[in-house]
Amino acid sequence: MKQIDPNAETKIYDIAVIDGDGIGPEIVREARKSLDAAAAKEGFALKYAKYLMGGAAIDATGEPLPQETLTGAQNSDAVLFGAIGGAKWDNMPRDLRPETGLLALRKGLDAFANLRPIKVFDALIDASPLKSEVVRGVDLLVVRELVGGIYFGQPRGRDDRRGWNTMVYGVEEIERIAKVAFEAAMRRGKKLCSVDKANVLEVSQIWREAVTNVAKSYPEVELSHMYVDNAAMQLIRRPRQFDVIVTGNLFGDILSDEASMISGSIGLLPSSSQGAKGGIFEPIHGSAPDIAGLGIANPLATILSAAMLCEFALGQNSAARRIEQAVKKALELGYRTGDIAEPNAPKKVSSIEMGDIVAELIEKS
Ligand code: IPM
Ligand code: MG
Repeated sequence: MKQIDPNAETKIYDIAVIDGDGIGPEIVREARKSLDAAAAKEGFALKYAKYLMGGAAIDATGEPLPQETLTGAQNSDAVLFGAIGGAKWDNMPRDLRPETGLLALRKGLDAFANLRPIKVFDALIDASPLKSEVVRGVDLLVVRELVGGIYFGQPRGRDDRRGWNTMVYGVEEIERIAKVAFEAAMRRGKKLCSVDKANVLEVSQIWREAVTNVAKSYPEVELSHMYVDNAAMQLIRRPRQFDVIVTGNLFGDILSDEASMISGSIGLLPSSSQGAKGGIFEPIHGSAPDIAGLGIANPLATILSAAMLCEFALGQNSAARRIEQAVKKALELGYRTGDIAEPNAPKKVSSIEMGDIVAELIEKS
């Protein structure tokens, strides 16, 4: 049994909160309700400090990642982040785009290991566009390298008639992400699939060699290699074959959006991006400007990201389980935001209602 010392000081964590653009503020607000409810249950507290990034930061300060935000994030125990971007900033030069702010934050925190779990809730089997017998029981983890590859490789640039980018990985970068993936596989089903394009790209040959080398330290994990085009197909054909997938930045970006459809909605998938300290916790979806302000966005991906924050940044695993269980329960009780609701669903709820329901279920847990 947990010993509670009445004289012990309550542990207080510093959380940097970045709402971002579009639906960002709406979903982060709901996630904070769950965080606070779980913290109250487990006897710790969260101190939030808000920072600007993305379009909101460009408008207010002229840059997508103000120094104050980076410093605040670096000094926090974790970053809770919504989403960035929108049509307003789409035609800006690269260094003044919202996405540049997010990439600089990831780089600035060296948040190289992006974990994107894809777990199908039984209650939502029918929300997936794929057949229920294909998606039932899917539980996989995409481990995406997040601060290297073609997103950051040099040279990059464009002139009026040509554009160019460089996909580059060094052995050390591959080894460190591979270790994270093997460790995750050890905690799960002990199967790791490394995804690359080694039949065409030299960078993928190095990737494959480095991953194979790391595998020597994990004899219990069954390692396979798959070309990315085949992986894209296999994810739809037979997603249950996967336990952990490890891949580079661009392939991981694409495959994780694809895999979200197995779960039914991109509005359900959380992520954690970890480096040396803390980490960034954000839904994998974007800022959905088309529905911003309508109060209908699904907050569950951000709420589940808050659960990952408790587990990976704070070591508060029971708080994480409480949040996850409450989400599962809310879905079992039939509550649905528009993205996952059947036509005429009886318990169709707004973002705020969903946030309140989950927080209340945590309180009652
Ligand atoms: C993601 C997003 C980002 C990415 C964008 C917004 C820069 O798509 O987190 O998957 O490409 O990494
Ligand atoms: Mg993406």
